Amino acid sequence: MEIKNAVFTVSSSGLHDCPEAKWPEYAFIGRSNVGKSSLINMLTRSKNLAKTSSKPGKTLLINHFLMDESWYIVDLPGYGFAKVSLQMREKMHRMITQYIQKRSHLACLFVLLDGRLTPQQIDRDFIQFLGEKEIPFALIFTKLDKISALKYQQNLADWKRVLSEQWEELPRMFASSSETGKGREEILSYIEEINAAFWSEGDPEDLSPSNDAAEVDDL
Ligand code: GTP
Ligand code: MG
Repeated sequence: MEIKNAVFTVSSSGLHDCPEAKWPEYAFIGRSNVGKSSLINMLTRSKNLAKTSSKPGKTLLINHFLMDESWYIVDLPGYGFAKVSLQMREKMHRMITQYIQKRSHLACLFVLLDGRLTPQQIDRDFIQFLGEKEIPFALIFTKLDKISALKYQQNLADWKRVLSEQWEELPRMFASSSETGKGREEILSYIEEINAAFWSEGDPEDLSPSNDAAEVDDL
């Protein structure tokens, strides 16, 4: 699948002011600085659609981008960024946990993991939370241009080992680099498959929780 038309729709400070849930959406999450916004630019072949920065904590709102007038990409703030005030951290934490649990048209959450690192506890906790809440997700390893294939294979094997402790079936995993475009076709094909299934499974309003943020569990 090629994206022909990618446009920024809106930045929201919470679930309540997200755009109407009308299209399937794919959100990108992961630790601050892991490369979420860069990956979105790589997938859409644009330089500046999502704002990137070498300093962590660039994305602080929920950003919707409409693809070909039929599905959304959503850039989320990173988790685990210590250098913001406690109040801000709590606000962002609430924003993220409400969004992922209550957004009715969330078709898949892509969790980005730095491919250079062995499994980190904060990411494992987050993945465990998604499992408990039955949120559909896939994993994307980022920045693979920065390490050798051998090192990545070792990190991937470690991830598979720790995930197998929790999961009978491993989630979908993608290897990526926003520098080289690695993973682009695979990720877009996966989205295309889910898009096709999305409408054939009935009205998602009937299947998923409403956008009511009242009953949301904490991470
Ligand atoms: P926050 O919005 O702060 O949570 O960060 P983010 O996850 O959106 O990260 P962002 O895309 O802003 O990238 C962070 C830094 O990593 C930037 O300096 C990017 O240029 C760099 N970066 C991201 N992806 C890649 C990649 O695949 N390869 C390389 N070499 N650098 C990358
Ligand atoms: Mg970002």
